[in-house]
Amino acid sequence: MSKYDDLFAETAPANSVFANKRALDPLADPAEIAARDSQERALATLINGVHDGYLPPTVSIYGPPGTGKTLTTRRICREFAARHDDVAVEYVNLKECRTLFSAANEILFALTGAKKGAYEGLDGVFTGIWTALEAYPEWTVLVLDEIDHVQHDTNYDPSDFFYRLLRGEGRLSRGIELSVWLISNELLEVDLRLDSRVESAMSDEQVFFPPYDSDALAAVLAPRLERAFRDGVLPADVRDYGVREAARRWGDARKALTLFRQAGETATDRGLETVTDACIDANLETTEREATIDKLLDLPENHFLVLTGVTGWSRGTEIKQPVTTAEIHEVVQDDALPADLRLGERAIRDVITDLETMGLVETWIDARGAEGRVKQIETTFDPRWVRDVIEPYVTESTYLATLETD
Ligand SMILES: Nc1ncnc2c1ncn2[C@@H]1O[C@H](COP(=O)(O)OP(=O)(O)O)[C@@H](O)[C@H]1O
Ligand SMILES: [Mg+2]
Repeated sequence: MSKYDDLFAETAPANSVFANKRALDPLADPAEIAARDSQERALATLINGVHDGYLPPTVSIYGPPGTGKTLTTRRICREFAARHDDVAVEYVNLKECRTLFSAANEILFALTGAKKGAYEGLDGVFTGIWTALEAYPEWTVLVLDEIDHVQHDTNYDPSDFFYRLLRGEGRLSRGIELSVWLISNELLEVDLRLDSRVESAMSDEQVFFPPYDSDALAAVLAPRLERAFRDGVLPADVRDYGVREAARRWGDARKALTLFRQAGETATDRGLETVTDACIDANLETTEREATIDKLLDLPENHFLVLTGVTGWSRGTEIKQPVTTAEIHEVVQDDALPADLRLGERAIRDVITDLETMGLVETWIDARGAEGRVKQIETTFDPRWVRDVIEPYVTESTYLATLETD
Protein backbone atom coordinates (compact mmCIF):
# COMPACT_ATOMS: atom_id res chain seq x y z
CA MET A 1 0.00 0.00 0.00
CA SER A 2 1.55 3.30 -1.02
CA LYS A 3 1.62 6.26 1.32
CA TYR A 4 -0.90 7.92 -0.98
CA ASP A 5 -3.51 5.25 -0.28
CA ASP A 6 -3.25 6.25 3.37
CA LEU A 7 -3.18 9.93 2.60
CA PHE A 8 -6.23 9.80 0.37
CA ALA A 9 -8.09 7.55 2.76
CA GLU A 10 -7.36 9.94 5.62
CA THR A 11 -8.44 13.01 3.71
CA ALA A 12 -11.52 11.49 2.06
CA PRO A 13 -14.69 13.34 3.10
CA ALA A 14 -15.96 10.64 5.41
CA ASN A 15 -18.76 12.27 7.30
CA SER A 16 -19.26 15.30 5.14
CA VAL A 17 -22.47 17.24 5.64
CA PHE A 18 -22.50 18.02 1.94
CA ALA A 19 -24.39 16.23 -0.79
CA ASN A 20 -23.25 18.62 -3.52
CA LYS A 21 -21.03 21.45 -2.42
CA ARG A 22 -20.90 22.90 -5.93
CA ALA A 23 -24.45 24.12 -5.45
CA LEU A 24 -22.94 26.77 -3.17
CA ASP A 25 -20.43 28.01 -5.74
CA PRO A 26 -21.36 31.65 -6.42
CA LEU A 27 -19.99 31.25 -9.95
CA ALA A 28 -22.38 28.45 -10.81
CA ASP A 29 -25.33 29.69 -12.83
CA PRO A 30 -28.56 29.10 -10.89
CA ALA A 31 -31.48 27.59 -12.82
CA GLU A 32 -33.87 30.31 -11.65
CA ILE A 33 -33.44 33.91 -10.62
CA ALA A 34 -35.36 34.59 -7.41
CA ALA A 35 -36.54 37.83 -5.80
CA ARG A 36 -35.54 40.18 -8.63
CA ASP A 37 -38.92 40.42 -10.35
CA SER A 38 -39.06 44.19 -10.61
CA GLN A 39 -35.49 44.43 -11.96
CA GLU A 40 -36.16 41.67 -14.50
CA ARG A 41 -39.31 43.47 -15.58
CA ALA A 42 -37.52 46.83 -15.89
CA LEU A 43 -34.73 45.33 -18.01
CA ALA A 44 -37.16 43.34 -20.16
CA THR A 45 -39.20 46.48 -20.80
CA LEU A 46 -36.08 48.38 -21.87
CA ILE A 47 -34.85 45.73 -24.29
CA ASN A 48 -38.37 45.30 -25.68
CA GLY A 49 -37.91 48.85 -26.95
CA VAL A 50 -36.62 47.34 -30.21
CA HIS A 51 -40.26 46.65 -31.12
CA ASP A 52 -40.84 50.40 -31.01
CA GLY A 53 -37.60 51.10 -32.82
CA TYR A 54 -35.79 52.52 -29.80
CA LEU A 55 -33.15 51.41 -27.34
CA PRO A 56 -31.80 53.96 -24.85
CA PRO A 57 -28.17 54.93 -25.55
CA THR A 58 -27.23 53.91 -22.00
CA VAL A 59 -28.75 52.03 -19.11
CA SER A 60 -27.16 52.27 -15.65
CA ILE A 61 -27.50 49.10 -13.65
CA TYR A 62 -26.18 49.67 -10.18
CA GLY A 63 -26.23 48.41 -6.62
CA PRO A 64 -23.89 46.85 -4.06
CA PRO A 65 -21.96 43.62 -4.75
CA GLY A 66 -23.77 40.29 -4.77
CA THR A 67 -27.20 41.69 -5.51
CA GLY A 68 -27.67 39.81 -8.79
CA LYS A 69 -26.78 42.61 -11.24
CA THR A 70 -24.54 40.52 -13.49
CA LEU A 71 -26.68 37.41 -13.32
CA THR A 72 -29.98 39.17 -14.02
CA THR A 73 -28.69 41.45 -16.76
CA ARG A 74 -26.94 38.68 -18.65
CA ARG A 75 -29.91 36.35 -18.32
CA ILE A 76 -32.48 38.87 -19.61
CA CYS A 77 -30.25 39.92 -22.51
CA ARG A 78 -29.38 36.37 -23.47
CA GLU A 79 -32.99 35.16 -23.34
CA PHE A 80 -34.18 38.11 -25.40
CA ALA A 81 -31.45 37.78 -28.03
CA ALA A 82 -32.24 34.07 -28.34
CA ARG A 83 -35.78 35.06 -29.36
CA HIS A 84 -34.86 37.91 -31.71
CA ASP A 85 -32.53 37.56 -34.69
CA ASP A 86 -32.19 41.30 -35.10
CA VAL A 87 -30.74 41.71 -31.59
CA ALA A 88 -27.18 40.88 -30.59
CA VAL A 89 -25.79 41.04 -27.08
CA GLU A 90 -22.14 41.29 -26.13
CA TYR A 91 -20.92 41.07 -22.56
CA VAL A 92 -17.57 42.47 -21.45
CA ASN A 93 -16.22 42.45 -17.91
CA LEU A 94 -13.81 45.32 -17.36
CA LYS A 95 -12.65 44.35 -13.89
CA GLU A 96 -9.09 43.57 -14.94
CA CYS A 97 -8.75 46.56 -17.24
CA ARG A 98 -6.35 49.06 -15.76
CA THR A 99 -6.73 51.65 -18.50
CA LEU A 100 -9.48 52.86 -20.79
CA PHE A 101 -7.36 51.74 -23.73
CA SER A 102 -7.42 48.17 -22.46
CA ALA A 103 -11.16 48.49 -21.77
CA ALA A 104 -11.80 49.55 -25.37
CA ASN A 105 -9.56 46.73 -26.55
CA GLU A 106 -11.53 44.26 -24.45
CA ILE A 107 -14.72 45.43 -26.16
CA LEU A 108 -13.07 45.03 -29.56
CA PHE A 109 -11.96 41.54 -28.55
CA ALA A 110 -15.52 40.57 -27.62
CA LEU A 111 -16.69 41.71 -31.06
CA THR A 112 -13.90 40.39 -33.26
CA GLY A 113 -11.75 37.99 -31.26
CA ALA A 114 -8.67 40.17 -31.81
CA LYS A 115 -7.04 43.15 -30.08
CA LYS A 116 -5.07 46.11 -31.40
CA GLY A 117 -1.51 46.99 -30.42
CA ALA A 118 -0.81 50.01 -28.24
CA TYR A 119 0.58 51.96 -31.21
CA GLU A 120 -2.87 52.08 -32.81
CA GLY A 121 -4.10 54.09 -29.87
CA LEU A 122 -7.64 54.59 -28.67
CA ASP A 123 -8.59 55.91 -32.14
CA GLY A 124 -7.51 52.70 -33.80
CA VAL A 125 -9.43 50.58 -31.33
CA PHE A 126 -12.62 52.58 -31.74
CA THR A 127 -12.36 52.39 -35.52
CA GLY A 128 -12.13 48.62 -35.14
CA ILE A 129 -15.20 48.60 -32.89
CA TRP A 130 -17.35 50.57 -35.37
CA THR A 131 -16.20 48.48 -38.32
CA ALA A 132 -17.10 45.31 -36.45
CA LEU A 133 -20.51 46.62 -35.39
CA GLU A 134 -21.38 47.51 -38.97
CA ALA A 135 -21.61 43.80 -39.70
CA TYR A 136 -23.77 43.18 -36.63
CA PRO A 137 -27.56 42.68 -36.46
CA GLU A 138 -29.65 45.83 -36.44
CA TRP A 139 -29.60 46.21 -32.65
CA THR A 140 -26.67 45.61 -30.35
CA VAL A 141 -26.73 45.69 -26.57
CA LEU A 142 -23.22 46.03 -25.16
CA VAL A 143 -23.09 45.09 -21.49
CA LEU A 144 -20.05 46.60 -19.75
CA ASP A 145 -19.67 45.04 -16.34
CA GLU A 146 -17.67 46.39 -13.38
CA ILE A 147 -17.06 49.59 -15.26
CA ASP A 148 -16.17 51.43 -12.05
CA HIS A 149 -12.89 49.51 -11.98
CA VAL A 150 -11.33 51.37 -14.89
CA GLN A 151 -11.39 54.82 -13.40
CA HIS A 152 -7.95 54.84 -11.81
CA ASP A 153 -4.45 54.65 -13.30
CA THR A 154 -5.50 55.82 -16.66
CA ASN A 155 -4.03 57.85 -19.47
CA TYR A 156 -7.44 58.80 -20.74
CA ASP A 157 -10.28 60.79 -19.31
CA PRO A 158 -13.33 58.57 -18.66
CA SER A 159 -15.48 61.35 -20.11
CA ASP A 160 -13.57 61.15 -23.36
CA PHE A 161 -13.97 57.38 -23.47
CA PHE A 162 -17.72 57.53 -22.92
CA TYR A 163 -18.15 60.36 -25.36
CA ARG A 164 -16.50 58.32 -28.10
CA LEU A 165 -18.61 55.30 -27.24
CA LEU A 166 -21.88 57.24 -27.25
CA ARG A 167 -21.38 60.02 -29.78
CA GLY A 168 -18.23 58.93 -31.65
CA GLU A 169 -17.87 60.05 -35.25
CA GLY A 170 -17.44 56.48 -36.50
CA ARG A 171 -20.64 55.46 -34.82
CA LEU A 172 -22.74 58.39 -35.99
CA SER A 173 -21.53 58.24 -39.59
CA ARG A 174 -22.35 54.54 -39.79
CA GLY A 175 -25.72 54.91 -38.06
CA ILE A 176 -24.96 52.14 -35.58
CA GLU A 177 -27.76 51.26 -33.13
CA LEU A 178 -25.95 50.53 -29.92
CA SER A 179 -27.30 50.45 -26.39
CA VAL A 180 -24.59 50.42 -23.73
CA TRP A 181 -25.63 48.83 -20.43
CA LEU A 182 -23.26 49.81 -17.66
CA ILE A 183 -23.06 47.70 -14.54
CA SER A 184 -21.41 49.20 -11.48
CA ASN A 185 -21.62 49.46 -7.72
CA GLU A 186 -22.28 53.19 -7.69
CA LEU A 187 -24.15 55.47 -10.02
CA LEU A 188 -21.56 56.24 -12.70
CA GLU A 189 -22.23 59.91 -13.25
CA VAL A 190 -21.43 60.43 -9.61
CA ASP A 191 -18.59 57.97 -9.36
CA LEU A 192 -16.62 58.84 -12.50
CA ARG A 193 -17.34 62.59 -12.37
CA LEU A 194 -18.33 62.53 -16.02
CA ASP A 195 -18.60 65.92 -17.67
CA SER A 196 -21.89 67.44 -18.77
CA ARG A 197 -21.24 66.68 -22.45
CA VAL A 198 -21.25 62.96 -21.64
CA GLU A 199 -24.07 63.21 -19.15
CA SER A 200 -26.35 64.66 -21.78
CA ALA A 201 -25.38 61.86 -24.20
CA MET A 202 -26.35 59.27 -21.58
CA SER A 203 -29.98 58.43 -20.97
CA ASP A 204 -31.60 58.56 -17.58
CA GLU A 205 -32.50 54.89 -17.58
CA GLN A 206 -31.44 53.38 -14.27
CA VAL A 207 -32.15 50.05 -12.68
CA PHE A 208 -31.22 49.76 -9.03
CA PHE A 209 -30.43 46.46 -7.32
CA PRO A 210 -30.84 46.93 -3.56
CA PRO A 211 -29.22 44.62 -1.01
CA TYR A 212 -31.31 41.50 -0.39
CA ASP A 213 -33.44 41.46 2.72
CA SER A 214 -33.96 38.32 4.73
CA ASP A 215 -36.94 37.03 2.73
CA ALA A 216 -35.27 37.70 -0.62
CA LEU A 217 -32.07 36.01 0.49
CA ALA A 218 -34.06 33.02 1.75
CA ALA A 219 -35.69 32.71 -1.70
CA VAL A 220 -32.34 32.99 -3.48
CA LEU A 221 -30.64 30.44 -1.24
CA ALA A 222 -33.40 27.87 -0.68
CA PRO A 223 -32.90 25.74 -3.84
CA ARG A 224 -29.11 25.89 -3.48
CA LEU A 225 -29.07 24.88 0.21
CA GLU A 226 -31.51 22.10 -0.59
CA ARG A 227 -29.10 20.57 -3.10
CA ALA A 228 -25.90 21.38 -1.22
CA PHE A 229 -26.57 19.66 2.09
CA ARG A 230 -27.52 16.08 2.83
CA ASP A 231 -31.03 15.54 4.13
CA GLY A 232 -31.58 16.85 7.63
CA VAL A 233 -28.10 18.26 8.31
CA LEU A 234 -29.13 21.91 8.02
CA PRO A 235 -31.93 22.47 10.53
CA ALA A 236 -34.45 25.15 9.54
CA ASP A 237 -33.65 27.37 12.53
CA VAL A 238 -29.92 27.30 11.76
CA ARG A 239 -30.62 28.05 8.10
CA ASP A 240 -32.87 30.96 9.09
CA TYR A 241 -30.28 32.29 11.50
CA GLY A 242 -27.57 32.27 8.81
CA VAL A 243 -29.87 33.91 6.27
CA ARG A 244 -30.90 36.58 8.77
CA GLU A 245 -27.32 37.40 9.71
CA ALA A 246 -26.19 37.48 6.07
CA ALA A 247 -29.07 39.81 5.19
CA ARG A 248 -28.48 42.07 8.17
CA ARG A 249 -24.73 42.36 7.61
CA TRP A 250 -24.36 42.33 3.83
CA GLY A 251 -27.51 41.69 1.80
CA ASP A 252 -25.11 39.97 -0.58
CA ALA A 253 -25.98 36.59 -2.16
CA ARG A 254 -22.38 35.77 -3.00
CA LYS A 255 -21.26 36.20 0.61
CA ALA A 256 -24.29 34.31 1.90
CA LEU A 257 -23.42 31.30 -0.30
CA THR A 258 -19.84 31.42 0.97
CA LEU A 259 -21.03 31.66 4.57
CA PHE A 260 -23.06 28.45 4.25
CA ARG A 261 -20.25 26.61 2.45
CA GLN A 262 -17.81 27.54 5.20
CA ALA A 263 -20.31 26.73 7.96
CA GLY A 264 -20.73 23.27 6.40
CA GLU A 265 -16.96 22.80 6.28
CA THR A 266 -16.74 23.78 9.93
CA ALA A 267 -19.43 21.24 10.83
CA THR A 268 -17.55 18.52 8.93
CA ASP A 269 -14.21 19.48 10.57
CA ARG A 270 -15.79 19.33 14.00
CA GLY A 271 -17.32 15.95 13.23
CA LEU A 272 -20.85 17.21 13.76
CA GLU A 273 -23.93 15.48 12.37
CA THR A 274 -25.68 18.77 11.72
CA VAL A 275 -24.69 22.34 11.05
CA THR A 276 -25.19 24.50 14.15
CA ASP A 277 -25.49 28.21 14.96
CA ALA A 278 -21.94 28.00 16.28
CA CYS A 279 -20.75 26.87 12.82
CA ILE A 280 -22.41 29.95 11.34
CA ASP A 281 -20.90 32.23 14.00
CA ALA A 282 -17.43 30.83 13.43
CA ASN A 283 -17.58 32.01 9.83
CA LEU A 284 -19.39 35.30 10.07
CA GLU A 285 -16.23 37.12 10.97
CA THR A 286 -14.07 35.33 8.38
CA THR A 287 -16.53 36.27 5.66
CA GLU A 288 -16.69 39.81 6.97
CA ARG A 289 -12.93 40.09 7.03
CA GLU A 290 -12.53 38.81 3.48
CA ALA A 291 -15.21 41.18 2.27
CA THR A 292 -13.67 44.19 4.00
CA ILE A 293 -10.22 43.34 2.70
CA ASP A 294 -11.55 43.19 -0.85
CA LYS A 295 -13.02 46.65 -0.34
CA LEU A 296 -9.77 48.01 1.09
CA LEU A 297 -7.73 46.71 -1.83
CA ASP A 298 -10.06 48.51 -4.24
CA LEU A 299 -9.75 51.92 -2.59
CA PRO A 300 -8.12 54.87 -4.36
CA GLU A 301 -4.71 55.83 -2.94
CA ASN A 302 -5.86 58.84 -0.91
CA HIS A 303 -8.58 56.84 0.75
CA PHE A 304 -6.27 54.03 1.62
CA LEU A 305 -3.68 56.44 2.90
CA VAL A 306 -6.14 58.17 5.20
CA LEU A 307 -7.17 54.77 6.55
CA THR A 308 -3.55 54.03 7.38
CA GLY A 309 -3.72 57.31 9.30
CA VAL A 310 -6.90 56.26 11.09
CA THR A 311 -5.18 53.05 12.15
CA GLY A 312 -1.65 54.40 12.45
CA TRP A 313 -1.56 55.18 16.16
CA SER A 314 -0.75 52.57 18.74
CA ARG A 315 -1.80 52.40 22.35
CA GLY A 316 0.54 49.81 23.80
CA THR A 317 -0.04 46.69 21.77
CA GLU A 318 -3.41 47.88 20.49
CA ILE A 319 -4.27 50.22 17.67
CA LYS A 320 -5.60 53.46 19.09
CA GLN A 321 -9.22 54.17 18.19
CA PRO A 322 -10.86 56.62 17.83
CA VAL A 323 -8.46 59.22 16.42
CA THR A 324 -8.86 62.88 15.42
CA THR A 325 -8.29 64.54 12.05
CA ALA A 326 -5.15 66.15 13.48
CA GLU A 327 -3.76 62.75 14.41
CA ILE A 328 -4.46 61.39 10.94
CA HIS A 329 -2.80 64.46 9.52
CA GLU A 330 0.31 63.79 11.53
CA VAL A 331 0.62 60.25 10.16
CA VAL A 332 0.13 61.22 6.53
CA GLN A 333 2.62 64.09 6.81
CA ASP A 334 5.38 61.52 7.03
CA ASP A 335 8.46 62.78 5.16
CA ALA A 336 8.85 59.37 3.60
CA LEU A 337 5.74 59.99 1.49
CA PRO A 338 5.88 61.68 -1.90
CA ALA A 339 4.75 65.31 -1.65
CA ASP A 340 1.51 64.80 -3.61
CA LEU A 341 0.38 62.19 -1.12
CA ARG A 342 0.79 64.47 1.88
CA LEU A 343 -2.77 65.55 2.38
CA GLY A 344 -3.90 68.66 4.22
CA GLU A 345 -6.50 68.49 6.98
CA ARG A 346 -9.19 69.69 4.64
CA ALA A 347 -8.48 66.97 2.07
CA ILE A 348 -8.44 64.44 4.91
CA ARG A 349 -11.86 65.61 6.05
CA ASP A 350 -13.26 65.13 2.53
CA VAL A 351 -11.84 61.63 2.31
CA ILE A 352 -13.23 60.79 5.75
CA THR A 353 -16.68 61.82 4.52
CA ASP A 354 -16.27 59.45 1.55
CA LEU A 355 -15.08 56.63 3.80
CA GLU A 356 -18.07 57.19 6.05
CA THR A 357 -20.43 56.92 3.06
CA MET A 358 -18.72 53.68 2.11
CA GLY A 359 -19.38 52.40 5.62
CA LEU A 360 -15.69 52.01 6.44
CA VAL A 361 -15.46 54.57 9.23
CA GLU A 362 -17.76 56.04 11.83
CA THR A 363 -17.42 59.57 13.19
CA TRP A 364 -18.92 61.57 16.01
CA ILE A 365 -18.24 64.80 17.84
CA ASP A 366 -16.80 64.60 21.30
CA ALA A 367 -17.40 67.75 23.34
CA ARG A 368 -15.65 66.58 26.48
CA GLY A 369 -12.01 66.97 25.43
CA ALA A 370 -9.77 69.82 26.56
CA GLU A 371 -9.69 71.26 23.02
CA GLY A 372 -13.48 71.62 22.91
CA ARG A 373 -15.59 69.89 20.26
CA VAL A 374 -13.42 67.45 18.33
CA LYS A 375 -14.40 64.97 15.66
CA GLN A 376 -13.62 61.39 16.60
CA ILE A 377 -13.00 58.83 13.87
CA GLU A 378 -12.79 55.07 14.00
CA THR A 379 -13.04 52.15 11.61
CA THR A 380 -16.27 50.13 11.51
CA PHE A 381 -14.15 46.95 11.35
CA ASP A 382 -11.11 45.53 13.12
CA PRO A 383 -8.40 48.18 12.51
CA ARG A 384 -5.74 45.48 12.25
CA TRP A 385 -7.16 44.53 8.85
CA VAL A 386 -5.82 47.79 7.41
CA ARG A 387 -2.34 46.90 8.56
CA ASP A 388 -2.80 43.39 7.16
CA VAL A 389 -3.43 44.73 3.68
CA ILE A 390 -0.77 47.44 3.49
CA GLU A 391 1.63 45.05 1.83
CA PRO A 392 -0.76 43.59 -0.77
CA TYR A 393 -2.07 47.09 -1.44
CA VAL A 394 1.41 48.44 -1.96
CA THR A 395 2.43 45.72 -4.40
CA GLU A 396 -0.51 46.71 -6.56
CA SER A 397 0.09 50.42 -6.22
CA THR A 398 3.65 51.57 -6.88
CA TYR A 399 2.52 55.00 -5.71
CA LEU A 400 2.40 53.89 -2.12
CA ALA A 401 5.64 51.94 -2.14
CA THR A 402 7.04 54.28 0.49
CA LEU A 403 4.60 52.97 3.09
CA GLU A 404 6.24 49.59 3.03
CA THR A 405 9.14 50.84 5.11
CA ASP A 406 7.12 50.21 8.33
N1 LIG B 1 -31.67 36.64 -7.51
C1 LIG B 1 -30.82 35.61 -7.51
N2 LIG B 1 -31.26 34.34 -7.72
C2 LIG B 1 -30.39 33.32 -7.72
N3 LIG B 1 -29.08 33.44 -7.50
C3 LIG B 1 -28.57 34.67 -7.25
C4 LIG B 1 -29.42 35.81 -7.25
N4 LIG B 1 -28.67 36.90 -6.99
C5 LIG B 1 -27.41 36.47 -6.85
N5 LIG B 1 -27.33 35.13 -7.00
C6 LIG B 1 -26.11 34.32 -6.85
O1 LIG B 1 -25.07 35.15 -6.42
C7 LIG B 1 -24.04 35.24 -7.41
C8 LIG B 1 -23.59 36.66 -7.48
O2 LIG B 1 -24.55 37.46 -8.15
P1 LIG B 1 -24.11 38.55 -9.23
O3 LIG B 1 -25.18 38.70 -10.22
O4 LIG B 1 -22.77 38.19 -9.77
O5 LIG B 1 -24.00 39.82 -8.29
P2 LIG B 1 -23.48 41.29 -8.65
O6 LIG B 1 -23.19 41.32 -10.13
O7 LIG B 1 -24.59 42.19 -8.23
O8 LIG B 1 -22.25 41.47 -7.81
C9 LIG B 1 -24.67 34.73 -8.70
O9 LIG B 1 -23.74 34.12 -9.54
C10 LIG B 1 -25.67 33.73 -8.17
O10 LIG B 1 -25.03 32.50 -7.92
MG1 LIG C 1 -21.35 41.59 -10.97
